[in-house]
Amino acid sequence: MKTELLKLLRESGEAISGQELCRIFGVSRTAIWKNINQLKEEGYEITAVRNRGYLLTGVPDKISKHELESRLSDCEFGRRVLYFDSTQSTNQVLRADPELEHGVLAVADEQTMGRGRRGRSWQSPPGTGISMSFLIRDLHDPERCTMITILAALAVRKALNRVTGMECMIKWPNDILIHERKVCGILTEMSTEESYVNWVIVGIGINVSQTGFDEELREKATSLLLEGGKKYNRADIIEWVMRYFEEYYGKFRQGKDLSAFTEEYNNALINAGRKVEAQSEREIITGVGAGIDSRGRFIVDQGGTCKLIASGEVSVRGVYGYV
Ligand code: BTN
Repeated sequence: MKTELLKLLRESGEAISGQELCRIFGVSRTAIWKNINQLKEEGYEITAVRNRGYLLTGVPDKISKHELESRLSDCEFGRRVLYFDSTQSTNQVLRADPELEHGVLAVADEQTMGRGRRGRSWQSPPGTGISMSFLIRDLHDPERCTMITILAALAVRKALNRVTGMECMIKWPNDILIHERKVCGILTEMSTEESYVNWVIVGIGINVSQTGFDEELREKATSLLLEGGKKYNRADIIEWVMRYFEEYYGKFRQGKDLSAFTEEYNNALINAGRKVEAQSEREIITGVGAGIDSRGRFIVDQGGTCKLIASGEVSVRGVYGYV
């Protein structure tokens, strides 16, 4: 009921009387009052306006199951949320339970063993960032699955722009940067049997209110607070990442590849037109970044001939540094 109450207060935007709430939920005034008080204890500002009722005047930056579910109840992704104050890794939470349904979203305030791409770790200290992962169960072609990561990058970029007003760039395949520093990383994992994909997990880590980073990250990482000079509400960001992902994914389902998205992606691609070095286990390819093709492969122009880089296990760096 708390989730529904919150949704109602948020969506109405104006005061709702206790009597009206009793009628909607079919419960007593005491039950309404108790739920309102619980929300207040969690940091929601709810003002009792004389003769008019309860008005939501402020939301805490605490992320919670009912805060997120009340925002995403009409969505395919995030309709059900598994929330943790602390967990090892939200990707791991989804991997661990084979029964979980399509669209479920795991969110943690802190990760103690956050994982990054290429076997690296990902720092997610409490109260500062967003650690979120969601499950896709309706996509079974391995090649199309690798394209998901491109859609996720577009969704995060658009959500960050909507909530913060800041313009973000993408470093292939899916790092999100502001002023050439990384503010978000995405780890997409899938479980494959022969050439059939059982599930895809998209894990997204966003640096929201860190005020500084360890020495090894200082040069290349940043947070929304450091770039925008203020704190942003994490639930707002999560909501818009999920809504935009759903929008992109809906469009993707209708086509066969990423053709509908390459222009938008390439316009945001920081590697485009820059000298790059793509390093896989086998070789190093250098050239000038020239965008992605309709399958999400990175095109490296080597002065007339082009090499296509497909694997997510490749690291692409600028010849002079991170980008
Ligand atoms: C990278 O840039 O290397 C990818 C980082 C991905 C981090 C996110 S945080 C939520 C999810 N859980 C994890 O353990 N990793 C991803």
